[in-house]
Amino acid sequence: MAGGAIQHVLLFPFPAQGHLPPMLKLGELLSLAGLHVTFLNTEHIHDRLLRSSPAVDRLAQRPTFRFRTIPDGLPQDDPRSIVYLLDLDESMRTRSREPYRELLLTPDGQDPDGWPTVSCVVADGILTLGLEVPEELGIPVLLLRTSSACSLWAYYSIRTMIQIGELPFPEEADMDELVHGVAGMDSFLRRRDLPGLVRRAKSTSDRTLGYLNAFSSNVTRASALILNTCEFLEAPVLSHIRSTICPITYTIGPLHHLLKDANSSFQCNNGQGVINNVHIPESTSSSIFPGLWKEDRSCMAWLDAQPDKSVVYVSFGSVTVVSREALVEFQHGLVNSGHRFLWVIRPDLVEGGAGAAGDTIPPEVEIKVASERGYFVGWAPQEEVLGHPAVGCFLTHSGWNSTLESVMKGVPMICWPFFADQQINSRFVGEVWNIGVDMKDMNGRKVVEEMVRKVMDGNGNNELRRSVGKMAEEMAKSCIKGGSSYMNFQKLLQHIKSFHK
Ligand code: UDX
Repeated sequence: MAGGAIQHVLLFPFPAQGHLPPMLKLGELLSLAGLHVTFLNTEHIHDRLLRSSPAVDRLAQRPTFRFRTIPDGLPQDDPRSIVYLLDLDESMRTRSREPYRELLLTPDGQDPDGWPTVSCVVADGILTLGLEVPEELGIPVLLLRTSSACSLWAYYSIRTMIQIGELPFPEEADMDELVHGVAGMDSFLRRRDLPGLVRRAKSTSDRTLGYLNAFSSNVTRASALILNTCEFLEAPVLSHIRSTICPITYTIGPLHHLLKDANSSFQCNNGQGVINNVHIPESTSSSIFPGLWKEDRSCMAWLDAQPDKSVVYVSFGSVTVVSREALVEFQHGLVNSGHRFLWVIRPDLVEGGAGAAGDTIPPEVEIKVASERGYFVGWAPQEEVLGHPAVGCFLTHSGWNSTLESVMKGVPMICWPFFADQQINSRFVGEVWNIGVDMKDMNGRKVVEEMVRKVMDGNGNNELRRSVGKMAEEMAKSCIKGGSSYMNFQKLLQHIKSFHK
């Protein structure tokens, strides 16, 4: 393979479920557009991916896509919970540095596949090492932030909030007070809508606050910022981001939708000097939804047997852990609502729980639900579930991927956020976009019951469906030829190609 004719990009995701799919989709798009893509996983994550998502193997068969792995430095039996993301970040900064450097420094002619030296890196915006090493080596870096633009802006505003004395919150702070210091959001953002770790900080020298502040500021060092959102959804906050954090910000979301739509469109160079219309077969694009758990598809047959819009789909994403008490309250509320539900209970969802999916439902939660009213799985094919006509609403933790997937399927949300960006995402869903309700910090059984009824019954459901449907339409438009995400992806391609040596 002639080294000069091809361009080689290294993609480095943060090693956690919520961060992998957007980076993989970006990698697939870049590879389809003719670039050579090395996707760098930690050994731990890659092992899990291979075990649970055979589709990843198919991606690796592509001639312009390959996986490489490096250790994350943590002991084999470490749970690697995202809750301890500082430990993971620090461990990688010390113990993964050298192998990462070596990959970036492989000289032309010495790569086992004949690929040229990496010409640029796309790293996850919260992975400090991802940016640091290429910076030291003079290799350009673009940062992908996998969560919402509004959460990035809130994290970035930590410094201002500290300067004006807004943070940390006083002991007995009224959490319903509006927050100052997050420009453009003063009229609706309350203290309780800030990311969980920010809300809990006790002093300005709080270690987590420092870390959040640092990785948000890292974005200013990148050659460009890539966001999994679209102009239509977050225009006001994007103008703050462009004027204050990073002038070159490419919004190319929802990435899962852009990838699906790509079959009719991308004009690109396939690496051999030929301009092609890249065709992405549906089976390729939709099969790459790598999960770290094996999907239980039995729920699809169960959904087939339910009436239209009758089921509440419940999932709290890949890392949330819920206490038994909260879960018991929640389940009573859900059952008392009288509605059918499909509930994802991951093997590690319940605090202190372990084992196979069926075993993790605490005995006290085991309630007498007629078998046709409730169905439990350990991990669902989420996008397919959300697209099923039987689903009436999504009771979600408001992770960003789940939020985008729900919008694109036109499904209203009931938000029960736990940490990170989830609190601010849910505020936008409930207050700004009007596509669901936010039950943050009020999770008693009565509240759950009322929220489910509000979103599932009659007029409430119709109105929310109308607004989420409109939003889905606009966002879908942004992914087709001429739309903002489509165009921004083309610009991103040109940006990356400009580094060709
Ligand atoms: C994490 C953070 O928690 C989240 O706040 C942040 O926005 C991204 O990183 P996670 O908790 O996993 O992510 O939530 P989310 O972003 O919603 O991603 C979950 C992904 O897992 C989605 O793509 C969803 O489709 C998939 N999923 C979830 C399944 O495929 N099956 C399931 O049963 C549950």
